[in-house]
Amino acid sequence: MQNPKRYTITAALPYTNGPVHIGHLAGVYVPADIYARYLRLNHKDVAFVCGSDEHGVPITLKAKAEGISPQAVVDKYHEIIKTSFEDFGISFDNYSRTTAKIHHETASGFFKDLYEQGKFIEETSAQLYDEEANQFLADRFIIGTCPKCGNEESYGDQCENCGTSHNAQDLINPKSAITGNIPSLKETKHWYLPLNEYQDWLNDWILKGHKADWKTNVLGQVKSWIDDGLKPRAVTRDLDWGIQVPVPGAEGKVLYVWFDAPIGYISSTKEWASRVGKDWEPYWKSEDTNLVHFIGKDNIVFHCIIFPAMLKAQGSYILPENVPANEFLNLEGNKISTSKNWAVWLHEYLQDFPDKQDVLRYALTANAPETKDNDFTWKDFQARNNNELVAIFGNFINRVVVLTNKYYEGIVPESKDLTTLDQQTLDQLAAFPEIISSSINRYRFREALSELMNLARLGNKYLADEEPWKQIKTNPERVQTIMNVALQIAAGLSILCEPFLPFTSKKLKTILGIDALDSLEWQSVIDRKTLISSGHQIKKAELLFAKIEDKEIQIQIDKLEATKQSNAEEILEPQKETINFEDFTKLDIRIGTILEAEKIPKTKKLLKLKVDVGIDIRTIVSGIAESFKPEDIIGQRVSVLVNLAPRNLRGVESQGMILMSDAPEGKLCFIEPDKNSVANGEKVS
Ligand code: 2FM
Ligand code: ZN
Repeated sequence: MQNPKRYTITAALPYTNGPVHIGHLAGVYVPADIYARYLRLNHKDVAFVCGSDEHGVPITLKAKAEGISPQAVVDKYHEIIKTSFEDFGISFDNYSRTTAKIHHETASGFFKDLYEQGKFIEETSAQLYDEEANQFLADRFIIGTCPKCGNEESYGDQCENCGTSHNAQDLINPKSAITGNIPSLKETKHWYLPLNEYQDWLNDWILKGHKADWKTNVLGQVKSWIDDGLKPRAVTRDLDWGIQVPVPGAEGKVLYVWFDAPIGYISSTKEWASRVGKDWEPYWKSEDTNLVHFIGKDNIVFHCIIFPAMLKAQGSYILPENVPANEFLNLEGNKISTSKNWAVWLHEYLQDFPDKQDVLRYALTANAPETKDNDFTWKDFQARNNNELVAIFGNFINRVVVLTNKYYEGIVPESKDLTTLDQQTLDQLAAFPEIISSSINRYRFREALSELMNLARLGNKYLADEEPWKQIKTNPERVQTIMNVALQIAAGLSILCEPFLPFTSKKLKTILGIDALDSLEWQSVIDRKTLISSGHQIKKAELLFAKIEDKEIQIQIDKLEATKQSNAEEILEPQKETINFEDFTKLDIRIGTILEAEKIPKTKKLLKLKVDVGIDIRTIVSGIAESFKPEDIIGQRVSVLVNLAPRNLRGVESQGMILMSDAPEGKLCFIEPDKNSVANGEKVS
C-alpha cells in the first residue's frame, strides 16, 4: 500500500540457543532497524517488534549439551541477546520472549481458534521414535540425508544446505540426534494445517499479486514450494518443552515451534501496546497497516507460506505487504556457524569496540547480502572505516567544524549572495532525502547508504572547489557564505544519517548544537529550511570516527584463526563401535575410474558419475559437486563401495558409493591407489 496509516515491522525472533552474530545483524536486524528509524523520522506510526524464540528443539539440545534446564538456557541467552541489541542501537519498540505469559496465551488462543473453526486435520500416523531416549524424534532431533540435495547432515525439518523444508520421514538414513540410534516407528496423533488447501490462494496472492514488488529470491523460493505441491504440515509435536496443545486428547504435546514463533510478533505487539496505552489490533487487523517481515532466506517458507496460511485460516488478520528476506553473510570465506563458533558475536564485538556500533552497522550495510551471499572480512571492515567513514564523512565534518571555530569562534556565519555553485549545491542537498527514501522504500539499504555517502562527498567537493582556507585571506566575506553552505550540508547529514548511523547522528547534532531542535527532520531538508541558522553557536571539533589500526584488526583475525585450529582438533570423530571381521568382509570395495561426470540440475552438491569398477560400468550419484568440477575428474581413480544397496537420489539410481575423505577448507578428496598400474576392479581390503 502506498500510504498506509501505520506500519508493523517485525524482525525474526532469534533462537535463544546462542548469542546473536553479524550474520543475523546484516540479514535481519540492521535493515529492519534502518527501515523503522527512517519511518519514524518521517512521522509514521510504527510498531517495530521482536523477541526471543525460546521453544523448539535447538533449545532442548543446547540444554542437554550444557546439562542445564531449557529454561536456564533461554534465560541466559535472552539476557545476552536483549542487552546486546540495546547496546547496538536496535530500536525495537518491544523486545519480548516466547516464554512470556502473554505469548503462551496468544499462541494457545490462536491454535484453539483454528481448532474450533475446524481448520486443522487430525491424524494418527507412525512417526520416528528413539526407543533408548524414549522420545519421538521431530525436527532437529533427527539428522539424515536430504532427499533434495544429498546433504548428509540435514535436520528433520529443514536442510541448511539447500534450504528445503521437509517432514522428518522424508530424510534418507535418519538417525537420532540424541543417541545416534536408527529410529523406529511409533503411532501418534497430531494436528495438521492443510497447506494444500491454500495453494491456489497463495499462488494468486504472492506469485500473481506481488510479482513486481517482492524480491526475486523470495518469489523464487515460494514458486519452487508451490510448484512442488504443498502438503499438510503438522503444527504439534511430542515434546516436553513448548506451549501445551490446548485441546482435548493432546496431553504431552506442544505446539510446533514454527507455529508459535511467528505468533510471537503478535504477542510482542500486544505487550508493547498495553505498555504504551495503545490498541494492538489495528497493527494486525486493519487493512491500512503495512506489515513487513525482515528475515533471512532460511525463514522464507515460514513467513511467506506457513504463517500467511495461518493468518488467512484465522480470518481476521492482515497479510504481509512485503518480506524482504536477505541472503547469508559468510565470515572470512566460510559459512557462519554457531556450533563451530565461526562467527563475530555481537556481545563480544561490543566489548572489543565499545564505541564503534556505527562502524559495524556501516560495514554490514555497505556489504549487505541483499541479492546474493556476501563475505565479511575484518580487512574490509577496517577499510570501510578508514577509507570511507573517516576519510569521507568524518573528514568533511571535521573541516567544517574546525574552520567554523577557527574563523568565527564557532558562530555560524551569515550567508550573503549565493553563487550558482552555492545554489546548485543547496539544490542537491535538498534532493538527497528523496533519493535515499526511494532506495529505502524498495528495501535497497546498501544503495541508500551509498547515496548518503554521496552527500558527504558533495560536501568535500564543495569545500575543495571553494577552498575557504585560501579565500579567507583575499575574500573573507565570501568565506562566510561558503561556511554557511557547508554547515547546512553538515546539518543535513546529521539528519539523514540517523537511520543508518544513529550514534553518529546524535554525536554530530551535539557538535553542531542542534540536538535539542525537534523541528529538524527529514522533511526539513526537502523543504530547504535553514537547518542551522546564522548566529548559532556550535561546539568544538570532536572526531566522529577514529582510524582503526592494523593491530586491532589482527587481534580479531587471530581470534578466528584460533577457532579454526581448535575446530580442526575437535573435528576428528571418535572411533565408531567395534565390528567383527565378518561385518567387514561384507563390504565390497573396488578400485575404479571415473569415465563421465555431470551436475544433477537444481542441486548444489550432486554429480552423476559413470564409473568403471572392473566388474561393470555403473552410475553413481555422489555429493561432491562443491569440491570438484565435473570436467576435472574424468579419469580420476577412486575407491568404490560396490555392494551398497541402490538408492534413488533426485530421480537417478545410484549403484554404489565413492569413498572420500575430508580435506581442509571443507573440501573433499578421493581415496585412490598410489600406483597407476592397479587395475579397475581390484579389491580394497
Ligand atoms: O531462524 C530462526 O532463528 C528462528 N528463530 C526465527 C523465527 S522467526 C519468527 F517466526 F518468529
Ligand atoms: Zn538439502
